[in-house]
Amino acid sequence: MEKKKRLVVSTGAGISAESGITTFRDAGGLWEQYPVMDVASATGFRRNPALIHKFYNERRHQLLLAEPNAAHRALHDLERFYEVYVITQNVDDLHERAGSTHVVHLHGELMKVRSIPHPERVYTLSPDSLDTSVDTRDEYGDPVRPHIVFFEEAVPMMEPAARIASTADIFVVIGTSLNVYPAASLMQYVRPGVPVYYIDPNPAPVPPNVEVIKATATEGMKILARKLGVGVPS
Ligand code: APR
Repeated sequence: MEKKKRLVVSTGAGISAESGITTFRDAGGLWEQYPVMDVASATGFRRNPALIHKFYNERRHQLLLAEPNAAHRALHDLERFYEVYVITQNVDDLHERAGSTHVVHLHGELMKVRSIPHPERVYTLSPDSLDTSVDTRDEYGDPVRPHIVFFEEAVPMMEPAARIASTADIFVVIGTSLNVYPAASLMQYVRPGVPVYYIDPNPAPVPPNVEVIKATATEGMKILARKLGVGVPS
């Protein structure tokens, strides 16, 4: 049995749009409803942590009502033919719930919180206790914060993600406006000659070597499967 080729996928909010999770910069997006610097930046957390706890509590409750969609499932299906690595900007757990084996979260994970004084202590919230506040304490009596990379903070998973992108035999970008760095620079780590596909109904400008599939994630995954000559996903 020959070694499977490595297919690396970089996903953004667009892949979760069809699961009913609001994107950030589309019409009606999250950043139209909330000032991003108030609810997703280090400055905002210092200024008003209670608002940030509330913002992420609301997003956790929304996530609980969401299910992985056919695009998440199609990525899991591709594991039959490729070694699939998902590098996501999304903080939802829909890739994991769809069964994807290798998922790297560049911007953190919504269902997790971590100790403020000991950031290596990370806790997964259970569905029946999703809410945190400035008064929440961990088992050591320390305050916690969302396990999310806020604007103005470093992106520790970028280095491993770039290394994975540099080993891709096929690279796919799905549902991101390519507005936020360093995530948007991932495709620059792909070796020359490796095919790059970009699935998005309203694609951002990309270099000419990138093959754009102007479609939603669920439709685009069907088109991609045909282009790759693998079974049409479920
Ligand atoms: N299928 C695929 N893509 C879609 C769909 C869909 N059904 N609907 C919208 N999109 C695309 C939009 O065209 C856009 O390109 O998803 C993208 C959403 O862009 P953003 O809202 O900017 O989301 P994203 O690129 O993931 O944002 C990056 O910004 O605020 C930060 O940390 C946050 O991870 C987020 C980062």
